[in-house]
Order: sequence, then C-alpha cells, then structure tokens
Amino acid sequence: MDKILKNMEHDSSIDKSEVFTTSDEIAERFKDQIKGKTILITGVSPTSIGAALALSLSAYSPSLLILASRSAPKIATTISQIHTQHPSVPLRALELDLASLSHVTAAAHSLANLPKIDILINNAGIMAPPFSRSEDGFESQFAVNHLGHFQLTRVLLPQLRAGGGGGRVVNVSSVGHHAGGVRFEDYNFGEGGERYKKWEAYGQSKSANVLMAVALNARGVRAWAVHPGAVETGLVKEDTREEVEALLRDAPDIEMKTPKQGASTVLMAALDPGLTDFAYLEDCKISQAAEHATDPELAERLWKLSEELVDSKL
Ligand SMILES: NC(=O)c1ccc[n+]([C@@H]2O[C@H](COP(=O)([O-])OP(=O)(O)OC[C@H]3O[C@@H](n4cnc5c(N)ncnc54)[C@H](OP(=O)(O)O)[C@@H]3O)[C@@H](O)[C@H]2O)c1
Repeated sequence: MDKILKNMEHDSSIDKSEVFTTSDEIAERFKDQIKGKTILITGVSPTSIGAALALSLSAYSPSLLILASRSAPKIATTISQIHTQHPSVPLRALELDLASLSHVTAAAHSLANLPKIDILINNAGIMAPPFSRSEDGFESQFAVNHLGHFQLTRVLLPQLRAGGGGGRVVNVSSVGHHAGGVRFEDYNFGEGGERYKKWEAYGQSKSANVLMAVALNARGVRAWAVHPGAVETGLVKEDTREEVEALLRDAPDIEMKTPKQGASTVLMAALDPGLTDFAYLEDCKISQAAEHATDPELAERLWKLSEELVDSKL
C-alpha cells in the first residue's frame, strides 16, 4: 500500500489541469466518436466508475451500450438512472461473473449476433479482499481483474476487429500496479494462499491489466490502460476501509474524485482519436507505468500464460 501512495503523490512539475475534468466534459469533447458506436462496459453498479461512464456516454447517441456486471438488480438500477436522463438510448444488460471463466465465455458468446463492437471498457474490479479462489481455482483478484477480462476480450476479438481496425479496448488499471508485477511462477500466492499479500495481489492484477493492453496492441487491436485516480465508489469494502482511510489521512496530497471525475481518463482513452498507440493514462494525460507492467516480453509471456490457464479450465 505504501508503494501505491508514494506513486500517487503529485509531482508539481506535471500539468495537472485536467485532474478534476469530468466524463461529461470528455464525452462532450469527443461526442462525434460516440455517435453510432456499440460500447461494452464491465462493472456498472450504481456509484461505480462504470455507471458514470455509461451515464456520460448516453448523452451522445451511441447505437448500443452493453452494461455488463455480476448483479442483475444493480444493472437494472443503473439502467433506470440512465433512462431517467436519456430515455431513448439503447441499452442491453449483460450478466457477467468475471470469477467464472465458463460464465464469461457464455456471456461473450451471447453477443455473437452483434456484427461489431467499437469500444470495450474492461472496468470491473475488486481490491485487496481476504484470500479466496475463483470458481476455477485462481486467486480472486487475478481471476476477476485479469483472467475474466482476458477471456471476455479474447472471445470478442473478431467483433473488435470487424469495424475496419477501429475497435478500441480500455483496461481500467490502477496506480496500485506499482505494488507488484505478475508472479509468473506463483500467481496464486501458494497452493492455499499461504504467501498471499492482498496489496501485492492487487498490484499483480492491475499490472496484468496494463500488460494485456500492450499485448493487444501487438495483435493489431488498439488498447490503453488507465489509472482513474482515487475515486469515491464502492471499491473499498468494510475489511479494508479503516486501513485505506488511515493511509489517505497520511497522504493529504491525494484528492478524492467523484465517479465522473474518475471516469474522465477512461473516456479519454476510449474516445480521443489523437491517441493512436498504446499509452498508460492518468488525469486525462499520458503517464508512465512501471516497467514490470509495460515490458513487451512480459506482455507476451502473460498472454501465453493466460491462454494456457483459461484453456485448461474450459
Ligand atoms: N475507486 C478508486 O479509487 C480506483 C482507483 C484505481 C483503480 N480503480 C479501478 O477502477 C475500476 C472500477 O472500480 P470502482 O472504483 O468503480 O469500484 P466499484 O464501485 O466497486 O465497481 C466495481 C464494479 O465491478 C463489479 N464486479 C466486481 N466483481 C465482479 C465480478 N466477479 N464479475 C463482474 N463484475 C464484478 C462490481 O459489481 P458489484 O457491485 O456487484 O460488486 C462493480 O460493478 C476497478 O477496476 C478498480 O480497480 C478504482
């Protein structure tokens, strides 16, 4: 956690003019890139960054917004929030449990009737829970934050490529990726989690988000990774709340963002036509991720490992 906070300290030499820009402002700025697009967002519970993304995008006539999350009632609440403001925007709810590779595969296949997907935002995530394994036996953060999104993206690759190379993928990572790289020989932190360190495991999964974006670019699919900032959402659960609050008190430089302020950098990566090559973004600007998250050889190694792990379970 200390490593994460150290990397969040603001460097006064960097232009911070867009720290509190909202996703509404970015959507307005790039509204021509939204009109007529099919966009899939994972993790859209009310109060989340995903819901803020969906709300902002809804104002500018996407052809379809697919809202994918594990809880059908929460998706329904977000849909009714959107419809209050934008009654005619086409929305599709997609139940998606990223902790189950068979569920992810079935959910992705249920979209087979869509000729193309223009933008995929891999946003859902969990942070620093007590040790547990996914249905497939993987450490939960590696499973939900990385492997589930890896499989979703892999199944959707033909549709992302179908728009004439115009498809874009955004992986919502975190400054937390500094807490650890991918442990290729020990991604589960021991057989029964005996080496589990929750922040290193969060770091591993968030480094994997960045590496996956690098690997996608190597496969001709444009992809970016983003740190949204420190955002008031449902991410901090009861078991980590005190720890996170105490650490934030010790780091007065870190200013909390609203969900729409957190969603702005994600939308910038998804929409800005000036962004053509892989980049890691923070505060609506290109920033520098750790080498362990951007090294192309590690990205290839992770892609191959992820294929093997997923294929061994399906
Ligand atoms: N908030 C921050 O300060 C911050 C900082 C850096 C990075 N991030 C990243 O931002 C992303 C969005 O997080 P957030 O802050 O918006 O948190 P959030 O409010 O907790 O939203 C996370 C979303 O992911 C969903 N989700 C969790 N487990 C899932 C699963 N197994 N299958 C499908 N969906 C699942 C959640 O559904 P439920 O509501 O059902 O749990 C929720 O919709 C995450 O990737 C996070 O790592 C956030």
